[in-house]
Amino acid sequence: MREYLQSNKHKSRARLKVSAAHVAIEAAHAGSLALLQHFRKPLDIRTKGVANYVTQADLAAETAVVQTILDAFPSHAILSEESHSDRADAEHSWIIDPLDGTNNFIHGMPHFAVSIGYYQNGEGILGIVTSPATGDWFVAARGEGAWFNGQPIQVSRAQGLEQAMIACGFYYDRDQMMQSTLDTIGDLFRTQIHGIRRFGAAALDLAWVAAGWFDGFFEYRLSPWDIAAGAVIIHEAGGKVSDCMGNPVALNRSSSLCASNQALHPAMLEIISKRLPRS
Ligand code: IPD
Ligand code: CA
Ligand code: CA
Repeated sequence: MREYLQSNKHKSRARLKVSAAHVAIEAAHAGSLALLQHFRKPLDIRTKGVANYVTQADLAAETAVVQTILDAFPSHAILSEESHSDRADAEHSWIIDPLDGTNNFIHGMPHFAVSIGYYQNGEGILGIVTSPATGDWFVAARGEGAWFNGQPIQVSRAQGLEQAMIACGFYYDRDQMMQSTLDTIGDLFRTQIHGIRRFGAAALDLAWVAAGWFDGFFEYRLSPWDIAAGAVIIHEAGGKVSDCMGNPVALNRSSSLCASNQALHPAMLEIISKRLPRS
């Protein structure tokens, strides 16, 4: 009897995963379309903090994504950057950045994303990152793999930092965290890495690590919605995600982040942990 019940539970979880995947894709489509309707058009730009902006595009995409999810799963928790703050570790939690790369978007630069992670009791089940301006999609489902535009992806094979292209991000801080990031970039260059890139959309940075285009990524502070989808995609592509001290990332608060293939992770941590601001 117990086995029977457990297998039924397993089947209903699998069914939920499939229907959640359909909903996630529909929601990502809706969010992407909402963003494209505003891209390179006049924007109403409001300031949340230094260099931290919100526009009607962020809000329209958030409404489109959240509405699609809640129409299908009215009881699920929503943690979304602009206006939903349910728990990330709820039984069913959707963690959403409706527009990742707002600064790029405002400047008419086509590097921005919709990022949607679906978690069950804190465990990443689905991750979707879309790049509406290029039409690219990164998708992953726990235990089933990760895909870029329908093709399976894997993290890079780089074995040492001297073979690595590293991406990074800057939190909004213009003080100690900015200086630490700049100093760490110097430390990384001195290990003879191929280069550093800062493209301005963390969800895409993570997706690009999963695809093997970046070998590693670090940022000294990110929010759960920047990380949630990308972490699932990297995990399914065979990579590793931790905070900058090597600890598991908790999605109920902001966190530092280190992402890479398995081989590079210790070398990345050794460099980036040294200057991690204690905040
Ligand atoms: C930002 C971008 C950026 C990262 C910042 C994020 P937003 O997200 O991902 O690359 O460096 O820390 O806050 O504000 O454009 O959603
Ligand atoms: Ca973001
Ligand atoms: Ca955002």
